[in-house]
Amino acid sequence: MNLKSKDILGLKDMSADEIMLILDTAKTMKYILTSNNKKTPHLQGKSIITLFYENSTRTRLSFELASKYMSAAAANISASGSSVSKGETLIDTGKTIDMMGADVIILRHPMSGAPHLLARNVNASVINAGDGMNEHPTQALLDMFTIIEKKGSLKDLKIAIVGDILHSRVARSNIWGMTKLGAEVNVAGPSTLLPVGMEKTGVRVFNTVQEALIDADVVMGLRIQLERQKKGLFPTIREYSRFFGLDEKRLRLAREDAIIMHPGPVNRGVELTSSVADGDQSLINEQVMNGVAVRMALLYLLTRRNSSENIN
Ligand code: CP
Repeated sequence: MNLKSKDILGLKDMSADEIMLILDTAKTMKYILTSNNKKTPHLQGKSIITLFYENSTRTRLSFELASKYMSAAAANISASGSSVSKGETLIDTGKTIDMMGADVIILRHPMSGAPHLLARNVNASVINAGDGMNEHPTQALLDMFTIIEKKGSLKDLKIAIVGDILHSRVARSNIWGMTKLGAEVNVAGPSTLLPVGMEKTGVRVFNTVQEALIDADVVMGLRIQLERQKKGLFPTIREYSRFFGLDEKRLRLAREDAIIMHPGPVNRGVELTSSVADGDQSLINEQVMNGVAVRMALLYLLTRRNSSENIN
């Protein structure tokens, strides 16, 4: 089986079979990643470009390392250090990268839909590394991979996603993906940070963190995205933390074997206490490592779309 599209733009339009293909391939990549020799020839002769209009540590570095581990030529462009700062449009920048022979362009952009626009205008495959408030599909794929590693499957798991749901592209991609794979998703946050009509996506919506946490198998905290808030949507960070922060007492409402996740970067003491972030149930570090494996799988699958070869 191959991926249907030349691009990875979001999980909303991706089938459960395609998601499973990516996660199964990531299993092989994780095996390679944790072996003594991480170097593989799978992307020899390919060029991978990361084009980031917003800051990143995890996503950008994991794509860069994934490319290098698989022997691709990898380069990075940041908006601030490129001709974007001279007024060049996204399409012109994309076409310039395309003409230099890029096979995959990985784009992070503050505008929802920017990767879709780029994908229509270049021959290279485009991977959405986070577009505004819309989607962050590769984060959700690594989150689902991490859950399946620990729990075996997403089917019938109860997952609580807590925090700034309104501005969270991570929450949106996870909701599309997790519900397709059979999980029951609860979301909780201040009512000003919950999108209207959220129930239509198949999730249960709560205004208290306690209700969302009851018997949860997985608890995911989200960062408050102050950079995307035009006006104050809650009184103070302290108030937010008091009512929605995840601490050890609140987590006792979840199942005893619940796992704790966060896409990072974590604001310690706001969405999670340090004892929760660093506790035995936390998988935050595993998420980071799995991010490399999942991105290796995506680069492999996109560059092999027209080949019958399969790594599994
Ligand atoms: N989770 C995530 O996207 O992290 P970065 O912003 O560091 O890439």
